[in-house]
Amino acid sequence: GGGEERANGRHAPSGPPSPPARSMSLLRERQRGLRGRIAAGSRGAVDRQRALGKRTARERLELLLDEGSFTEIDMYRRHQAHGLKVGEQRPHTDGVVAGSGTIEGRRVFVYAQDFTIFGGSLGQAHASKIHKVMDLAIATGAPLIGLNDSGGARIQEGVMALDGYGGIFRRNVQASGVIPQISVILGPCAGGAAYSPALADFTFMVRDTARMYLTGPDVVEAVSGQRVTHDELGGAEVHGGRSGVATFVHDDEESALEDVRYLVSLLPSNNLEPPPSEPPRQAGTDHRPGFAEIVPVEPNKPYDMRSVVAELVDDGEFLELQEDWARNVVCALARVDGEVVGLVGNQPMVLAGVLDVAASQKAARFVRFCDAFGIPLVTLVDVPGFLPGTDQEHAGIIRHGAKLLYAYCEATVPRIQVILRKAYGGAYIVMDSRSIGSDLSLAWPTNEIAVMGAEGAVNVIFRKELAAAADPEELRSELVAEYSEQLMHPHYAAERGLVDDVIDPAETRAAVARGLAMLRNKRQTPPQRKHGNIPL
Ligand code: HXC
Repeated sequence: GGGEERANGRHAPSGPPSPPARSMSLLRERQRGLRGRIAAGSRGAVDRQRALGKRTARERLELLLDEGSFTEIDMYRRHQAHGLKVGEQRPHTDGVVAGSGTIEGRRVFVYAQDFTIFGGSLGQAHASKIHKVMDLAIATGAPLIGLNDSGGARIQEGVMALDGYGGIFRRNVQASGVIPQISVILGPCAGGAAYSPALADFTFMVRDTARMYLTGPDVVEAVSGQRVTHDELGGAEVHGGRSGVATFVHDDEESALEDVRYLVSLLPSNNLEPPPSEPPRQAGTDHRPGFAEIVPVEPNKPYDMRSVVAELVDDGEFLELQEDWARNVVCALARVDGEVVGLVGNQPMVLAGVLDVAASQKAARFVRFCDAFGIPLVTLVDVPGFLPGTDQEHAGIIRHGAKLLYAYCEATVPRIQVILRKAYGGAYIVMDSRSIGSDLSLAWPTNEIAVMGAEGAVNVIFRKELAAAADPEELRSELVAEYSEQLMHPHYAAERGLVDDVIDPAETRAAVARGLAMLRNKRQTPPQRKHGNIPL
């Protein structure tokens, strides 16, 4: 009818305008209809997404955000590309749903890639929508949450897709330490696309559906002849347990998104805001005999440091990071007396709680995150030392251990060290000793702080005497007793000010709560510099 209308217009200029086309109610209705169709997506593709065990982008956002809080931007965005069949189809949203909403009433910015449109692949329009929400998140100081489910760079858009990724990475880095960044992997996340989650603070993966790798199984086979499945190469188990790429691994999308909400509830919106506290619990007077029941008095008997964490924090509730990777160190977020804290603890249950390459990397990144976002650090020390051996030395334990040392030395947030049983050598220094800037060091009466264990020390210091002795074993045990008495008694460090107080284990929660209160207004300004040169 367009031609007819034009003809009418030309021949009857004074006639009535065509009211239906200009009626507000019709425009509104059309608009509503279009929005509904865009939101509903293509039936077949949505069915396919479900058959893959995945939810749609919009369903995911509904699970993530407070009900009715989502405001979408750029719903009508379409790509402007031509050629290679892609020009034939220009679906709205361009394969990503972007905008903002709230989690427990607090503002967040989000994008959710939509695998039902071009496999969620990233072209120019898609990328610029992500750039837009990232810019808004940075400008308003609100967390950014990306839900990834994508075939990667949209092949038909060539280098413009790569340019789009570059823009995301640059913004990830600009936002680093300014707003919390969370990546949730709910499908493929391959090639360079994996670098955005790698630059974020936290990465969630879902078993069976999530996969991350720089080059997929086909390329691996072509290059090396090795046949490997998607899951073996980069599934959630691999990244949760072996590579350390995933911070959290979940069985399904619901529990992953639920935990994202929990994580956000523990984080400040940006680096200028304090972490969200809850009303205090009068923890400063808590008496908890449980501590002494969890930790055996024998220095080498294993126990689960997570039980100590549970005893220490409010309601026994904490969020552990990377629980299946570098399990010899425990990193967790929780509250003590209503205040958010970051906990780092040696885990005597795994490798006797030694520090190694992976544990150093894990704890270092966590310490830096907490420091960047003003989250006080509580370090629970029970460490026999660094793991000896060629494997570790050749893997660069010097370089990696230095990361943890650097991270603590640099941290200006309130820092409390609690030494439970033992703290030896370099590992004692690294685990937030007073010498590297801890504000408050507490020790249990079981503490053994020393350069090395008594046996090792005696063998070194008295090598000649032991070699010449008629009964070396008897002499050795005498010397071990002497060394222990002189250098390893529980007050040795306290007498020298390296420990501020020796506390009854039952008072641990109370002492930490009082310490946090004491340090609340800590301010420390690092010297002006472009940035340090952390060993990487
Ligand atoms: C354009 C893509 C696409 C892509 C998928 N599609 N990936 N379109 N560019 N990268 C389209 C498919 O053509 C298909 O369209 C639809 O999405 C669904 O894909 P399927 O293959 O049918 O799905 P599935 O079998 O589940 O396999 C998913 C997949 C596979 C494993 C992700 O699609 C795949 O391997 N895609 C290519 C991955 C890739 O090589 N990406 C580039 C990586 S390089 P129709 O119309 O048929 O429904 C990269 C560099 C980034 O990302 C660098 C940044 C610095």
